[in-house]
This record gives sequence, C-alpha cells and structure tokens, in this order.
Amino acid sequence: MWPYPRIVAHRGGGTLAPENTLAALRCGLAYGYRAVEFDVMLAGDGVPVVVHDPELGRTVAGSGAISDYTAAQLEKMEAGAWFGSQFAGEGVPTFEAVVDYCKAQRIWMNIEIKPAPGFDVPTGETVAVAARAYFAQEIAAGELLPLLSSFSIAALQAARQAAPELSRGWLVETIPSDWAQRAKELGVVAIHCHHEALTPALAQAVKGEGLGLFCYTVNRPQRASELLAWGVDGFCTDRIDLIKPVNT
Ligand code: G3P
Ligand code: MG
Repeated sequence: MWPYPRIVAHRGGGTLAPENTLAALRCGLAYGYRAVEFDVMLAGDGVPVVVHDPELGRTVAGSGAISDYTAAQLEKMEAGAWFGSQFAGEGVPTFEAVVDYCKAQRIWMNIEIKPAPGFDVPTGETVAVAARAYFAQEIAAGELLPLLSSFSIAALQAARQAAPELSRGWLVETIPSDWAQRAKELGVVAIHCHHEALTPALAQAVKGEGLGLFCYTVNRPQRASELLAWGVDGFCTDRIDLIKPVNT
C-alpha cells in the first residue's frame, strides 16, 4: 500500500514559482499542497543544497558549476529573479533549510537525489545520512518518513548502504524490461516513471509485484485521473493551480 500523499508539487511550487526555492514551498502551501518533490545536489563544500541543474545560468544567476561554490555562497545567489522580479532575492536553499520549513509546515517530502556528474556516491550517501539525522525522531516513533528517489543507481545504492531505514524510489524515464529484478536488487519500494512511458498493463504489472508506482510530471487533470484509474499511486505536478491537492 502507498502510505504517501498521492499528489505532489514538483520542485516546490511547480511552474508557479521559482523551482526549488523556499518561495516555491510557500507557493505550494498557498495552493494547499502539503506534499512536495525537490532536487538535492552537493555544493562544493559537500553541503547538500536544493537545486536542479549542476550548472548556474538557468535558475541561478551566474556561471560555473554548483560544485564551484560553497552552500553559503549559493544561499546568497540570485535564484528567484529569473522567474519574476517579485521573487528577486531568493537564494539556493540548503537541504536543511528546506527540511526545516517542510517539517514546520507539516509538508511531506519526496527528496530527489540529483548528483552532479561524477558525484553519485557522495551525493547519495550525504543526502541519506542528512535525512536520517533530520528525521531521527520520526524514525524512532515509526512515523511517516520522506521518500528518497534518484535516477542514479549508484546514488540509490549509496543511500541504501548509508541509511537503510529510509525508503527509496527508483526514477526512470521508461520502465526497462527487467524492472522487477532490478527493483528487487536495488531494494526500492517504488518505481517513478515518466507518465508518457506508462501503459495500463505495465502499471498493473508493477502494482502486481507489490511496488509503489509514481509518475512525473502530470500537468493535465484528465491525464491525472486516467493514471490514478490505471492504479498509479501518486504523481508530481507543475500545475498546482489546475490539479487540487490530496494530502493523504
Ligand atoms: O522526481 C520526479 C522528477 O522531478 C524527475 O525529473 O528533471 O524534474 O528532476 P526532474
Ligand atoms: Mg526532480
């Protein structure tokens, strides 16, 4: 059974706020979303930060790689103005700051481990160890925990080894033919796939294996209903204005 919320705000506030910022989380919450997906990468000093691209330029003003800067430098950078002048001054938040905000607001988290090229193992390990520390109380109390996920097999393996008590989802674009065997070997609880690569038969097969099934990124309400009818457990969306949250 899927214990997590079914509808999750992608990158914090979908396409209504600058992705992966605290402003995005506030925006998601303003739309009633108490479930969020965001991307975590390592800054140059090894501190996990919330950002999608390994290079500056698209969402973060400046140039170079995320790994060229410390987390403290990234926090002071401009990560909101590209989206709109009202968001100017939003920095790249640390993973810790995002978790703090989400915990304070009771927002559930799908934490995507997003290693920059070549940093798969340290990113998987660091994010898992940090998450375990942030959720030590919830782990001890047996409460609902965040779900880690990644496209990187090496990051998933490192996270598993570092913090086996945290569940993981395996992110894929298209579900490969040997998914059942590989999911078992990886010890994941769910497969997260691109919704356009899914068929009703495949959805049924994944559910039949007792795995969770999560889709990204679903932006049309009609498509969302269709996927849920196929047995998909949950999905993330950019259109938090069109798709109403279900926070259970
Ligand atoms: O976790 C689902 C989705 O976020 C994966 O793709 O590129 O948006 O991180 P991306
Ligand atoms: Mg993501």
